[in-house]
Amino acid sequence: MDIYQQYAYSYPHKLAYREFDEPLPLKKVWQTENRTKLFAYLHIPYCEMRCGFCNLFTIANPKQGLDRYLTALRREAQAYRTILSDIQFEEYAIGGGTPTFLDADQLANMLAIFKYDLGVDTNKKYGSIESSPKSITPEKIHLIESYGINRISIGIQSWIEDETKQLGRPQSLEVATKAVEQLIESIIPEVNIDLIYGIKGQTVKTWQYVLEKTLAYSPTEIFLYPLYTRPLTGLAKLHGPPKNDIRLSLYRQGRDYLLSNGYRQVSMRCFRRVDAPIIESEYDSTTNGMVGIGAGARSYTSKLHYSGHYAVSRKAIKGIIEEYSNQQDFTSIHYGIRLNEEEEIRRFLIKSLIDGGQLSEHQFEGKFTQSVLDMEVIQDFFNQGLLVQEGDWIKLSKRGLELEDWIGPQLFSSQVNDRMNSFQLI
Ligand SMILES: C[S@@+](CC[C@H](N)C(=O)[O-])C[C@H]1O[C@@H](n2cnc3c(N)ncnc32)[C@H](O)[C@@H]1O
Ligand code: SF4
Repeated sequence: MDIYQQYAYSYPHKLAYREFDEPLPLKKVWQTENRTKLFAYLHIPYCEMRCGFCNLFTIANPKQGLDRYLTALRREAQAYRTILSDIQFEEYAIGGGTPTFLDADQLANMLAIFKYDLGVDTNKKYGSIESSPKSITPEKIHLIESYGINRISIGIQSWIEDETKQLGRPQSLEVATKAVEQLIESIIPEVNIDLIYGIKGQTVKTWQYVLEKTLAYSPTEIFLYPLYTRPLTGLAKLHGPPKNDIRLSLYRQGRDYLLSNGYRQVSMRCFRRVDAPIIESEYDSTTNGMVGIGAGARSYTSKLHYSGHYAVSRKAIKGIIEEYSNQQDFTSIHYGIRLNEEEEIRRFLIKSLIDGGQLSEHQFEGKFTQSVLDMEVIQDFFNQGLLVQEGDWIKLSKRGLELEDWIGPQLFSSQVNDRMNSFQLI
């Protein structure tokens, strides 16, 4: 079985989005939606380098245009505030790319747009921001603290310079160490560290070293990512998928080590310290909508998902960012996918089991007037030992967790698969 098919944290994937027949006014799109307890997302599509494994919507080292991008971001935030004056946000994330790639003045500007133009009360609501070792400075940390952001995530990937080099992400150990130390010493309540396993040349011994060095900082959260070599990325051009695939055994090693050292498993990738703060948010990703601003950000209503265009190559992404930065009118949307009830059910299953770690039988029945236990695919998963039930909650079993990336795509519809397969990736 090829476990490593796809990280299905959202459904349908952006590759299934298409141009709508005609632009849809934002006001109409959100008119009948619950506009409270929404998730706010802000996307910064810039990084100091383009890592060999990464296919996210971002470009490295833009020479200019950042201030124009932020001005467009303000226009988009203001359009939402004006058209949907009653929207209320319950949770938020600022991602990318690397939001901390912005210099301190630009970061301050971006945070002000998010808080005052879009209306996200960053100090009162639960939220998160992404960062990278090279871009972290005391001044930026101070800004993040003053906006009351609860969680900062940093991509370390490996503490071994040869391994980050293999990943096409040359990273100095000194810079990485200093950045993590600064974050741990800050008053940001939660620090997450991202690590990657399955790197060419990585062994049980080097992985153990990386895990131990990470745990020495006792971060609130650790994400363990299996390496994916995705089309059009630097790594794909360099050496394609791994020949000697030891990702499953490295996963088990990482999981067992973290579980026996004070962490609990939330999903295949996410491990949280047992004494980490309880996340205080009433946002429910299976039910509540999301407003995403910035080029590359998506937004979800209950029956419609939308975003700007998607691409992977630098040239294409640059063009999309340029178009976004010049856009004056943000009152309508033109690109995305509509969800019928079948797709809504599939999304609910994926969001609950894969993203959230558990599915409420009772909530499913209330929403879709059928029992989730009557679904063939769910019965199959139970029969294969991939799910367990604890009272109302259905969760991935230990085996299910390690097969999460295989389970997710089993829940995709053939229509969505067809759309994804026929997407012309540039
Ligand atoms: C949103 S990204 C990047 C955050 C930040 N820009 C950085 O790189 O430090 C979050 C994480 O996804 C993981 N990731 C992205 N692409 C991946 C891939 N192809 N294979 C494995 N992990 C990947 C990396 O661990 C990365 O830190
Ligand atoms: S992994 Fe992070 S720093 Fe590297 S290209 Fe992707 S978003 Fe940028």
